[in-house]
Amino acid sequence: MNSKYALITGASSGIGLEIAKSLAKRNFNLVLTSRSEETLKELSREISKNFSVKVDFISSDLSKKEAPKQLYDFCKNKGYQIEILVNNAGFAIPGSFDQTPMEEEERFIRVLGIAVISLCKQFIKDMLERGRGRIMIISSVAAFAPPSSIQTLYGPIKTFMNRFSEGLNLNYNHKGITSTAVCPGYTITNFHTASGVQNEMDSVPSFMKKEAKQVAEEAVKATLKGKKICVPSITFKVIVFLLKIIPHGLFSLVSGFLAPGRYQKNS
Ligand SMILES: NC(=O)c1ccc[n+]([C@@H]2O[C@H](COP(=O)([O-])OP(=O)(O)OC[C@H]3O[C@@H](n4cnc5c(N)ncnc54)[C@H](OP(=O)(O)O)[C@@H]3O)[C@@H](O)[C@H]2O)c1
Repeated sequence: MNSKYALITGASSGIGLEIAKSLAKRNFNLVLTSRSEETLKELSREISKNFSVKVDFISSDLSKKEAPKQLYDFCKNKGYQIEILVNNAGFAIPGSFDQTPMEEEERFIRVLGIAVISLCKQFIKDMLERGRGRIMIISSVAAFAPPSSIQTLYGPIKTFMNRFSEGLNLNYNHKGITSTAVCPGYTITNFHTASGVQNEMDSVPSFMKKEAKQVAEEAVKATLKGKKICVPSITFKVIVFLLKIIPHGLFSLVSGFLAPGRYQKNS
């Protein structure tokens, strides 16, 4: 009997959904989670039928403090051994920093930051007992980029997540547990519409827009190999390389073409 399970947050659409399919294809049973119960129910049925694996789901809002513990308890009570924890759920805050209520930033940091840390903290204990486990954290190319004029907090939380993932590796790699920070560039998903930044996405050149399926496939391969970092696609590997070597001041010369509106100075 196949007892390998993966838990995927933000599994109702985009990169998370494609990661779910990619893992199902590799014979992992799944626990899908996000806020949209009906969508998860449908997807569970579909994935289970198409890939002949067990798929369960639980709706959960990761901006709620108790959500990570509830997810952990759900898996524990059902006897699911989570071999792969995929921290993918995310969004961006539309609007200027000075205009949004602080509750919005708190919600954002909880979903993209605290919930990730909390899930890792709980599931890693079981992984340590088994002496094996894989963690995937969906970060972003924004972790390497200069501060953006559209999203004040998005880059910083993704940089934080990259460093957190590195820390997990340092501390647990020799015990059989690895953490992979996946840093996609622009990916065609609901993200930009859901986050109110579709205009930005519309003006990005098409060679820079990647399919969620391609991103997910590279992410899963890297995670199963225990790679520390994964930047899906050649395009963004080159961009991240350039971001590391070119002074950020010079990057503004090309940013108007590659990422319109993202690095303009708001004077
Ligand atoms: N698309 C890009 O260009 C891009 C680039 C780099 C990195 N990323 C990262 O990729 C990850 C996935 O985004 P995506 O592009 O696939 O966007 P997406 O299609 O909008 O998916 C986001 C997922 O997160 C879930 N989610 C949002 N808020 C949640 C909450 N409060 N509690 C629980 N789940 C929540 C959504 O489900 P529900 O609405 O059902 O809750 C959905 O399943 C994010 O971490 C994002 O930062 C995206």
